[in-house]
Amino acid sequence: MVMMFLFLILVTHVSEAYNNCPKCGSIDVPYPLSTDDNCGDPRYKVYCNNGILEFLSARGFYYKILSINPSAYKLIISPPPIQKDTCYSSDLNSGGLKLDENLPFNISTHNTVMLFNCSERIIRSPLNCSSISFCRQFENNVEEGLGCKNTLCCHYLKDSAMTSHMIRLRVGGCTAYTSMVDMKLGSFFDSWTYGIELQWVPPN
Ligand SMILES: *[C@@H]1O[C@H](CO)[C@@H](O)[C@H](O)[C@H]1NC(C)=O
Ligand SMILES: *[C@@H]1O[C@H](CO)[C@@H](O)[C@H](O)[C@H]1NC(C)=O
Ligand SMILES: *[C@@H]1O[C@H](CO)[C@@H](O)[C@H](O)[C@H]1NC(C)=O
Repeated sequence: MVMMFLFLILVTHVSEAYNNCPKCGSIDVPYPLSTDDNCGDPRYKVYCNNGILEFLSARGFYYKILSINPSAYKLIISPPPIQKDTCYSSDLNSGGLKLDENLPFNISTHNTVMLFNCSERIIRSPLNCSSISFCRQFENNVEEGLGCKNTLCCHYLKDSAMTSHMIRLRVGGCTAYTSMVDMKLGSFFDSWTYGIELQWVPPN
């Protein structure tokens, strides 16, 4: 009887270690993402803060997780808000988005990043800072971008040519950004899907 009991404890413990974490608010937390040491795989740590699922950057800034596609090993985080009446992203003090290179996440190649309030010095290929860049639509039409109106802005497709672990911001460089996933050429600002797509290395 005692043996049986111990065996059951062991079995439940082992199976729990490979279990999905409970929902966070209304969002499922699929394996290997882990909100707790007792579920998921702890290398794939995410945070459930007051019912909001969040991703923590290497600089200690939390980004809300908008959606997760476990079969493609991808999740989408929200670009940080641009502070009202300014052209400062709320992670500017953290230098923008920086992922810990020791963790199994990187920034996918499906993001079109727009940078705002840039200094002349940063304008270089592959940034597109032309007067018809997408970023003009954002700063002229989207309420959140109005604080960036008439600043120098640029966009680029974040592909493997750029570092896959950061979107860099700094005073004297660019001070705000936003991002769109799977941007379609010629689409208008009212149909854009804001987000930064991350992908993870599948656990083995
Ligand atoms: C810059 O982006 C616009 C779209 O907003 C595109 O039409 C134009 O060809 C791009 N310019 C360069 C130099 O890539
Ligand atoms: C743009 O950035 C500069 C520093 O690079 C800063 O002094 C200025 O306030 C920023 N503009 C806005 C509208 O936030
Ligand atoms: C990001 O990680 C994935 C999964 O390991 C990998 O296939 C991809 O090449 C990486 N992307 C970049 C831009 O390094």
